[in-house]
Amino acid sequence: MSDKAPIGVFDSGVGGLSVWKEIAILLPKESIIYYADSVHCPYGNKTQQEIINLSEKIVNFFIKNKVKLIVVACNTATAAAIAYLRKKYSISFVGMEPAVKPAALQTKTGVVGILATEGTFKGTLFNDTKLRYAKGVEVLEQDGKGFVELVESGNVTNDKSISIVKASLEPLLEKGIDQLVLGCTHYPFLKEDIKIVAGKHSLEIIDPAPAVAKQVQRILKQENKLNLEKEVHYTFYSSTKQMNVLKQMVKKLLKSNNFTFEYKVL
Ligand code: DGL
Repeated sequence: MSDKAPIGVFDSGVGGLSVWKEIAILLPKESIIYYADSVHCPYGNKTQQEIINLSEKIVNFFIKNKVKLIVVACNTATAAAIAYLRKKYSISFVGMEPAVKPAALQTKTGVVGILATEGTFKGTLFNDTKLRYAKGVEVLEQDGKGFVELVESGNVTNDKSISIVKASLEPLLEKGIDQLVLGCTHYPFLKEDIKIVAGKHSLEIIDPAPAVAKQVQRILKQENKLNLEKEVHYTFYSSTKQMNVLKQMVKKLLKSNNFTFEYKVL
């Protein structure tokens, strides 16, 4: 059986495109609806209840559009809302996992750095993962101050963005990290800036997006919902009319003609 229904993917803004891209590459026969809630971005400093309310509106919109699975392509929303969403809705959800485990396994210096938002660090998911997998390893938590705003504005890899990245990353490098976990889906779009700041410092950058795409594949297989036909379409909704950055990023990430962009307030 083949299931043509789309997958729903959402984030507080354009950051979740780092996850969308991995899903589109791994599962080229799956149509995807993406919702970028850029007008409410950032989620990182909102209360848990605010994030639950925003996520729920997006989930209801996806369900109305008959998606077969929902990816919470936002670490902050995963931390704040996924437990609530899983309890309330019967559809399967895939969330962002903080990649503490691979970092702890791979470190040679015994010091790993996690870059994420305040909201993600406050969540039980991150703290439980840390307790479980990072025994004997020093885990340094650092909020990427101003990173989300940089990515949302589309202004990356320039003097200003490099100095903003430097302010958060340098303290971690000085403490000897050799693994850097990108615990926010916006941050992979600052990878070049991170590499420039790291310079000769040997640093493994861990982006959990490919693992999330594999989890999507596993669940669709288990539920017998993979699409076996070829016709795919990618629809991008944004809660702001200013969709230039979103459009530029999408077109840069994947060569395809099957894109539709729509402004949609929920
Ligand atoms: N992209 C987000 C994350 O993965 C959220 C950024 C924000 O809105 O603060 O955490």
